[in-house]
Amino acid sequence: MNKVKLHDLEFVPYLSEADILARVQELGTQLAADYSGRTPCFLVVLKGAAIFAADLIRATGIPCELTFIELASYEGTASSGAVRMATKLPQRLSGKDVIVVEDIIDTGRTMHFLLPQLEAIGAKSTAIATLLHKPDAQQFDLDLQYVGFEIPNDFVVGYGLDYEQHGRELSAIYVKK
Ligand code: IMP
Ligand code: MG
Repeated sequence: MNKVKLHDLEFVPYLSEADILARVQELGTQLAADYSGRTPCFLVVLKGAAIFAADLIRATGIPCELTFIELASYEGTASSGAVRMATKLPQRLSGKDVIVVEDIIDTGRTMHFLLPQLEAIGAKSTAIATLLHKPDAQQFDLDLQYVGFEIPNDFVVGYGLDYEQHGRELSAIYVKK
């Protein structure tokens, strides 16, 4: 893996494709056991979690439903301090076991904003599956049931995560130099 340049910034390899896929498989196995006999609904937070969700859902291999919401809170390489809902919350989640699929928990603001709304529309249960978590950046209390990797408070791209909409197509994850 070589370094990559996106806009004005350089990024260096951090997590390989093989390491990511092995961990996603483990999370899938864990989800399959925990949700056995149920048909959960994966709620994928666009855009960043799209790639992770595609691999995670197939790794889970259990009957499920799938829906999406687009939320945005980042500007450049820092949290903007506000969450913008670009699409409406799907109403079909009432009575469902909802698994929110996120690319990364940074301050935790996005999940802190979304979870009460899922409860308000009558989700039967909620859980969070996130590929990455930055414990040192977290400001909001959350129950994180499924975490792929805990990482330092550095800006990362690849495997769905972007810097100003670039880098999502990278199969590995890279960290800002
Ligand atoms: P939070 O609301 O502060 O937890 O931020 C979560 C959202 O910010 C994630 O869904 C990402 O879209 C974005 N984000 C946070 N950290 C990074 C990063 O290192 N790279 C790319 N996007 C990030
Ligand atoms: Mg995101």
